[in-house]
Amino acid sequence: MHTGMWENRITQENVIRLKERGFYIIPPDTGRLASGGYGAGRFPDTGTILGHIKKILGKDGDMAGINIVVTAGGTQEPIDPVRVIGNRSSGKMGYAIAEAARDRGASVTLITAPTSLPVPVGVEVVNVETADQMKEAVEKAVSRSSALIMAAAVADFRAASISAQKIKKESGNLVLELVPTPDILSGINGNFIKVGFAAESQDLVANACRKVERKKLDFIVANDITEKDSGFGADTNRVIIIGQDGMPEELPLMSKRAVADRILDRVVRLLAAKGNKK
Ligand code: C5P
Repeated sequence: MHTGMWENRITQENVIRLKERGFYIIPPDTGRLASGGYGAGRFPDTGTILGHIKKILGKDGDMAGINIVVTAGGTQEPIDPVRVIGNRSSGKMGYAIAEAARDRGASVTLITAPTSLPVPVGVEVVNVETADQMKEAVEKAVSRSSALIMAAAVADFRAASISAQKIKKESGNLVLELVPTPDILSGINGNFIKVGFAAESQDLVANACRKVERKKLDFIVANDITEKDSGFGADTNRVIIIGQDGMPEELPLMSKRAVADRILDRVVRLLAAKGNKK
């Protein structure tokens, strides 16, 4: 419908009445309308409608009543007003976890660095760019959560100083001084399940085991980035999950969504063992 019809008092009163009777209303999208105007009134796209349906169907799932924080994407550290230090993370794994948790009834906060993925419906999205911003957002969100899953590829270094003006190329070689960013996972501890990721190009299991200990994780999801169809940018992933007992659970190549559900199965089991829900 046209924005004027949607915002009309009679329509809005009827929408409120329907909600009171238990109907779930998917609001119209905002954009170009058939009239040529711009505003609220567009029929939502299929992905949005499906997202709402999955959230409704999942509301009594095994994660109902659980608050969970998921991070996704690759952080970007500015060098000057136009350039950043980034990485190849697509955000697909983190988004798949956020959507899978939503579909199982969880209240999800997705803290995301820039990605080209559509914003998932029915989850609280916090947009950040840098590691420092992600740290602040995680600390704020995790205080009211039962689990933190850090799927984001956080930059390990940032420029020591950010040039206020675009750096010119006339000056020949450019030497950038980089300083370490804070390790978000290592620095945050509390009464929640803590899950990390490890993207490795060598000694996968040994490196991942060390990270479980060093970052005090409940478990880590490790993948070999040199493997085909796995890791950065792919829709599939082959991962090894390693808990505090150091026993690796090797999963076959599967969709990132299926991996997400296996990760959440573990989180649900750990929470049940702790008798902890918030
Ligand atoms: O040590 P490494 O960067 O391989 O560890 C990866 C895990 O640590 C991921 O879960 C990532 O989100 C997290 N991490 C972090 N803060 C950083 C670097 C990585 O929380 N500065």
